[in-house]
Amino acid sequence: MIRSKIAGTGKYVPENIMTNEGLTQYMQTSDEWIRERTGIQERRYADRTGETTTTMAIEAAKIAIERAGITKDDIDFIIFATLSPDYYFPGCGVLVQREMKMKEIGALDVRNQCSGFVYALSIGDQFIRTGTYKNILVIGSEKHSFGLDFSTRGRNVSVIFGDGAGAVILQPATNENQGILSTHLHSDGESAEVLAMFNPGTHANHWNGGQTLADFNQSSPVGDMFFSHEMIEKAQVYPNMDGPAVFKKAIVKFPEVIHEALNKNGYTPADLNLLVPHQANLRISQFVQQQLGLRDDQVFNNIQKYGNTTAASIPIALCEAWEQGKVKENDLVCLAAFGSGFTWASALIRW
Ligand code: ACO
Repeated sequence: MIRSKIAGTGKYVPENIMTNEGLTQYMQTSDEWIRERTGIQERRYADRTGETTTTMAIEAAKIAIERAGITKDDIDFIIFATLSPDYYFPGCGVLVQREMKMKEIGALDVRNQCSGFVYALSIGDQFIRTGTYKNILVIGSEKHSFGLDFSTRGRNVSVIFGDGAGAVILQPATNENQGILSTHLHSDGESAEVLAMFNPGTHANHWNGGQTLADFNQSSPVGDMFFSHEMIEKAQVYPNMDGPAVFKKAIVKFPEVIHEALNKNGYTPADLNLLVPHQANLRISQFVQQQLGLRDDQVFNNIQKYGNTTAASIPIALCEAWEQGKVKENDLVCLAAFGSGFTWASALIRW
């Protein structure tokens, strides 16, 4: 069985730093509230017009490609995870293909929010295992700062998120003990609306009793129900989150999916060199660490500097850990994510 390995990692975060203090000019919040609940001290915001989800992804991809010792012409498939794409459609993958002047290779966008990168990695892993592709570019990138409610109304969500991109190159492993050992993907749509952005969409309020929105022409069988003035006026174009509900589920599913990956391969938490959890919230990571009985040096966190970058958080953290010498050859590394859907996932890697 050919396994896949991560042959190179790259990351890009915008230069512009937004501190907790800086957010107080837009909304009623405080450094103390944000640090205490989330551990976040600052986050990065992309240049309003000069940077997009795709341009940040390309910067991360260039580094990953160089570190893998290949060129963009060697890439034979792109998998792009994001919830903040440049366009509603087409996805960002094709924009990467175009802007990096790659061959006419396949490009797939993945919409699994905070779990998006691990889902994307798992898809890439299957293509390498079957011998279909040799160099897959897997990206997670987000430009949250463009689509959040920066008034006090949206503060429970807006203070958490930041912008950035991470990328890896997947290749067939040459050493039989090395590579991605297994991936584990889960979902429970029962709580789909607990962490969600409803509009624009085709739901027509179907899931909350079927009431159509007031300013649509309801007698017409077709047309304009994707966006309305009412949606904008009622702030229904921003992400919604029931924070406590997310917290409760996350602290159960994170440990569960990490144990699943370890058990599958005959390991215990003590064998882990590094856990790279999705950077949802420092309090969640600390709870998971405690549940698993891991030491501080076994868990990597950087949410303090970048906030929660959703699909980008794991590849950014993995890249930073690697740059700091915390991921070395032969190390046992676990990636784990939980997020909107709910979806959750893990990948166990022998580096
Ligand atoms: N600044 C100041 N006050 C705030 C802010 C803010 N940014 N946001 C909310 N508040 C206020 C609320 O208005 C409320 O005030 P009230 O008591 O007067 O009504 C009070 O703080 C408590 O609000 P809650 O929403 O109940 O806040 P909670 O204590 O639950 O903390 C948080 C919110 C940090 C989101 C918490 O629920 C949490 O950690 N949830 C986990 C979810 C998470 O981290 N999601 C990340 C993204 S999803 C993912 O990646 C999986």
